[in-house]
Amino acid sequence: YSPGALQGCTVMITAGPTREAIDPVRFISNRSSGKMGFELAAAAQKTGARVIVIAGPSGEFLAAGIERWDVETAQQMYETVMQHIEDCDIFIGAAAVADYRPATRSAEKIKKKETALTLRLVRNPDIVQAVAALDQGRPFTVGFAAETHRLKEHAEHKRCHKQLDMIAANWVGRPGLGFDSTSNALEVFWEGGHVSIAQATKAQVARHLIEIISERYHAQSSA
Ligand code: PMT
Repeated sequence: YSPGALQGCTVMITAGPTREAIDPVRFISNRSSGKMGFELAAAAQKTGARVIVIAGPSGEFLAAGIERWDVETAQQMYETVMQHIEDCDIFIGAAAVADYRPATRSAEKIKKKETALTLRLVRNPDIVQAVAALDQGRPFTVGFAAETHRLKEHAEHKRCHKQLDMIAANWVGRPGLGFDSTSNALEVFWEGGHVSIAQATKAQVARHLIEIISERYHAQSSA
């Protein structure tokens, strides 16, 4: 783990969940705590990088000296990423961004009815895909994949479909891994390469992933 590996680089990381409002008091969200993204930010900072975090609602601690933009919805996360992406060398999408939001946000609290209630959902923009598709100043783009089955197949599909430089896949829905746990394990894939990061604390896993990203980033920039 080399302390100066990303000196002079700017790394942007998305972290945490998004919240998609149904009405003034209810929302759709997920179990992401923000830990994985915040640990990646701390690990990137230790390599000398300038680090920008775009965070969904999280009660987790973020190391001092990291630029932080707080957002709530996927649309806000998308806009904030795009506002600050210029001059970023590396982008890491660790946030659990909601794929869908309610088609309309009721201005008033929805009243309970005797019948069932149907919510219509519409697609949110895909942030990591939009970053990877940038024409000018496209950063080295790393996505995550949260999978409950056929991890390698689904992760590789996401990497190719979204044209990512690298994807870090984690099992979710298993004790000690993924959402809201203190530990994690990752299967990292890039074109022609693969590394397994064994189960460890999210801080240790983050340091290992930043090391791999740094190596691949430098290999790609000097190619
Ligand atoms: O926050 P923690 O509690 O520490 O948990 C960490 C984590 C499990 C949330 C994290 O390790 C993780 O897996 N993050 C990605 C979760 C996810 O949304 O995975 P996905 O397979 O649905 O998405 C694939 C990739 O597309 C991700 O990089 C995601 O950030 C990105 N995405 C997805 C949808 C969308 N609208 N925009 C995106 O950028």
